Amino acid sequence: MAVERQFICNVNDVPENEGKSFTIDGIPVALFKVANEFYALEDRCSHVNVPISGGYVHQREKCVACPWHGAQFDLKTGKVVTPPACEDIKSFEVSVEEDKVLIVL
Ligand code: FES
Repeated sequence: MAVERQFICNVNDVPENEGKSFTIDGIPVALFKVANEFYALEDRCSHVNVPISGGYVHQREKCVACPWHGAQFDLKTGKVVTPPACEDIKSFEVSVEEDKVLIVL
């Protein structure tokens, strides 16, 4: 079965080293751009269920800090890097094609 990739936005819609929130098929997605690479995570901190798309992006470590209590998540895998969150969040496969960012949910 072919994997369905869906359009999220154009590459210039997300500022460098920041995240932006999208809803794709009813799923909240936080899309981040770091060094021109895109990473997509579920837009929900596993600590208290707040969006992480507005969190601080640590470029070198490739992780995002939750804006509420600072738990950090790996941008590639969604794994918890630092507490107080203790549950990983979902990560999604993203790709870029002709200036369009595509996601597999
Ligand atoms: S809500 Fe994210 S660390 Fe508390």
